[in-house]
Amino acid sequence: MADQESQSWPLAPARVHRRSDDENPAFKALRKERTNKCFVYIFAGIVFLCAILLIFALIVFRSKSPDVRLRSVAVKSLRYSKSPSPSLNATLVAVVTIRNPNFGPYVFGNNNSASFLYGGAKLGEHKIGGGEARWKGTERMSITMEVRSSRLPEGSNNLSGDLNSGFVNLSSYCRFTGKVHLLKIFKNRKTAQMNCNMTLVLRTKTIKDLRCD
Ligand SMILES: *[C@@H]1O[C@H](CO)[C@@H](O)[C@H](O)[C@H]1NC(C)=O
Ligand SMILES: *[C@@H]1O[C@H](CO)[C@@H](O)[C@H](O)[C@H]1NC(C)=O
Ligand SMILES: *[C@@H]1O[C@H](CO)[C@@H](O)[C@H](O)[C@H]1NC(C)=O
Ligand SMILES: *[C@@H]1O[C@H](CO)[C@@H](O)[C@H](O)[C@H]1NC(C)=O
Ligand SMILES: *[C@@H]1O[C@H](CO)[C@@H](O)[C@H](O)[C@H]1NC(C)=O
Repeated sequence: MADQESQSWPLAPARVHRRSDDENPAFKALRKERTNKCFVYIFAGIVFLCAILLIFALIVFRSKSPDVRLRSVAVKSLRYSKSPSPSLNATLVAVVTIRNPNFGPYVFGNNNSASFLYGGAKLGEHKIGGGEARWKGTERMSITMEVRSSRLPEGSNNLSGDLNSGFVNLSSYCRFTGKVHLLKIFKNRKTAQMNCNMTLVLRTKTIKDLRCD
């Protein structure tokens, strides 16, 4: 007991003495640390808000139109006659891709279509049902289209001459209307379209010179 008392006694005053000596600087440091921490929290909060606003601005205001492309056109069947009246019937298989560059899915309705034209007049049209291109994804679709020269307006073309030359120039038009869904809150209407020119080679039943803008 005496040993413990004699041991604890020299320590106790020293401890009290030290504490009373360091009290003010310690509190000051603590207060300083607290205001520093407070400042850091506020600063971090501002940075966080700015980052959120920036991300929103980038995502919402810069949503881009999807990119529609005609990848290929294959001739599945082809029948034509030059006389008595020029006539051309074909079944074409077009592969169309729709690339969505946005950070949200592109959902398109069912009022979309792809068409083939000759001399600016419609030879065939195919309705494309509703669908979705995933965010940063590419949707690929194969469209089978019946092309009939009987749909052309009477006498306003040079089909007879083209059938004789063996090359029929066609163009294709495709348009999508839909919405880019961002963060499940924002929906931005975006239209994507495509124009292509190509030449149908009658002898080989192939498409050549497919050019799109
Ligand atoms: C093309 O199809 C139409 C009917 O859709 C037919 O009357 C015509 O004879 C066909 N032409 C050829 C060359 O087969
Ligand atoms: C479908 O799209 C066409 C143009 O591609 C437009 O003229 C027509 O009004 C649209 N129909 C509906 C029901 O939205
Ligand atoms: C019709 O097409 C043929 C072959 O492509 C061409 O030689 C001719 O000049 C064309 N005629 C007209 C009126 O465009
Ligand atoms: C068809 O297209 C090709 C390539 O663009 C062009 O050289 C040619 O003159 C066109 N033919 C007709 C009849 O328009
Ligand atoms: C397709 O042809 C038309 C008329 O010949 C031309 O105005 C258009 O620029 C062409 N488009 C492409 C993508 O070559």
